[in-house]
Amino acid sequence: MNAIDPMNYEKIVFFTGAGMSAESGIPTYRGRGGVWKQYNWEEYACQDAFNDDPRKVLKFHELRRKAVLECEPHAGHHVIARLAKSHSGITVVTQNIDGMHQRAGNRNILELHGSLWRLRCPTHGIFEDIGETYERYRCEQCDAWLRPDIVWFGDSLDPEITRMSVISIAQCDLFVSIGTSGVVWPAAGYPEVARKNGAFCIEINPELNQMSHLYDESIRQTAGNALPLIFPEH
Ligand code: APR
Repeated sequence: MNAIDPMNYEKIVFFTGAGMSAESGIPTYRGRGGVWKQYNWEEYACQDAFNDDPRKVLKFHELRRKAVLECEPHAGHHVIARLAKSHSGITVVTQNIDGMHQRAGNRNILELHGSLWRLRCPTHGIFEDIGETYERYRCEQCDAWLRPDIVWFGDSLDPEITRMSVISIAQCDLFVSIGTSGVVWPAAGYPEVARKNGAFCIEINPELNQMSHLYDESIRQTAGNALPLIFPEH
């Protein structure tokens, strides 16, 4: 693994998945101890589950918020935040809903799968709610149940976030994918988008997956170990 000088690249995309937050103590979805091993997503992470029992779904997301608030961003998050401050061509596209990039000081994160820290009323829109428990379960104006502003199974992605992500990825000359299993679409297709533009594509993931062949270099280390080595502070 060689160190990279980010200044040799004009546009860099960091594309992150649950493995990015694993060393902070936030479980991934599919690996050992993964969220979808412990919980059945059909009961907690789809619109039907919410329609059947909104309180149960909101309580589940409160548990996840509590778990995330007990964690801190790690060295890898801080490396990305530092680079974003010194290089104007950096975009972070994440599948994570945990807000850890923001807590490390990153701004303007493209959150493909929404956020644990927002709620949505079907009529009155989206708003931030950042405590351990939700401030309220129902809309103050119309009393509708508020749902987490998260892309659940069966939901569509926000077309504007997707559009901005694809534009950034299609234009980058360095694509760094970190901690994603590459099974959830359309995000799983993003390495191919970067490759088509001739970007140098790096994967940081201790484990091989079905998209690994798309990368020019695969670094079989954890995010917290690899990022400070690849992007050392000068
Ligand atoms: N550093 C880097 N990668 C890691 C680490 C680590 N410390 N620990 C685990 N990984 C890797 C695993 O090897 C795995 O390939 O992170 C990946 C996590 O995969 P998933 O749990 O499937 O997470 P992700 O790819 O982000 O899932 C995509 O699925 O249900 C959803 O909406 C949810 O955004 C999520 C989406």
